[in-house]
Amino acid sequence: MTNSSDTKPGLPFPFPVVAWDQGEVVLIDQTLLPDELAYRRCGDIPTLCQAIIELAVRGAPAIGVAAAYGLALAWNLARREVGDDNERIWPIFQKHRAELAATRPTAVNLFWALDRCGGLAEQMIAGGAATEAIGAALLADAAAVREEDVAMCRAMGEAGAELLPDFATVLTHCNAGGLATGGYGTAIGVIYAAKAAGKTLHVFADETRPLLQGARLTAWELVDQGIDVTVLCDSAAATVLRQGKIDAVITGSDRVAANGDAANKIGTYPLAVLAHRHDVPFYIAAPASTFDPDTPDGDGIEIEERDPAEVHHWRAERTTAVGAKAWNPAFDVTPASLITAFITEHGVLRPPFGKSLAPVLARPGKPA
Ligand code: MRU
Repeated sequence: MTNSSDTKPGLPFPFPVVAWDQGEVVLIDQTLLPDELAYRRCGDIPTLCQAIIELAVRGAPAIGVAAAYGLALAWNLARREVGDDNERIWPIFQKHRAELAATRPTAVNLFWALDRCGGLAEQMIAGGAATEAIGAALLADAAAVREEDVAMCRAMGEAGAELLPDFATVLTHCNAGGLATGGYGTAIGVIYAAKAAGKTLHVFADETRPLLQGARLTAWELVDQGIDVTVLCDSAAATVLRQGKIDAVITGSDRVAANGDAANKIGTYPLAVLAHRHDVPFYIAAPASTFDPDTPDGDGIEIEERDPAEVHHWRAERTTAVGAKAWNPAFDVTPASLITAFITEHGVLRPPFGKSLAPVLARPGKPA
């Protein structure tokens, strides 16, 4: 993949959100969309960490894929530094793994991918594998994380599409599309699957202050895929729900606790309250990698607080009064009681979640 710049839609689908090219991790730079479609190359771990922190790559499953490729990069870099010596590579690899883990606290897919791929390296070292073989296995596993995510999103899309009648109108928040995942999308994957099944849909996309993932990214990819989309100010969601225009609200999630409480982009919780008030189903579409068996409920989910400067400015332009303070939590938690069902690769999981979430909370090799 080469650096490119193109203002026209028309990417391959599933989108090449994270890829490996000539020993580097290459990302669609989501900070530049929708103005410019360009790729950011990450040839070292600080550059990749910065890309995650800045949201050049973002969305829980996409962060997981980027971290998986990050560990393949970390192994290669350490090998270059100290040669084919697993014992000397390990502490460098672990340091890079910790740097990746420190980028963003809320999306559990990051930690899931670091555990999966880091655990693979650990097992192979214990088994006496050659340094080169471990590097190749890490790269293959990163590609598998991405491909499995696409497959899970397709499966959840098919399960979710059955919930939507033809000509349905769906309200969504933030970007839970191809750009947020291995390339296909969770909440927006449901829309793609419904379209593939021959349904005509309309999407209302909340703009999603302060970084406008809905206005910039969801709208961009839906236009690219030929799906009718209307962008709303976040504060207009109550009105479209009250007017009876919405058949379902569907969002993604960054972490679902074991009891079904779900963290997602700030502004999701009020949507769930509104959906309940207006008797509209509120669905969360998420793969098993987003469910966290180690967090019992939403109180245990760490909510990232980002720089208040993101609230004060849109890009270079100041939009708040000088002297005012700003508060910038990136996520909120929707209580399980407001969630109609989870759309997963294991099907549509409905309350009581204590029982129904078992397949997405199971971790092979770990006791329940
Ligand atoms: O801060 P972001 O843009 O990484 O937040 C992303 C979201 O909140 C998404 O809705 C979530 O990760 C689900 S993506 C399939």
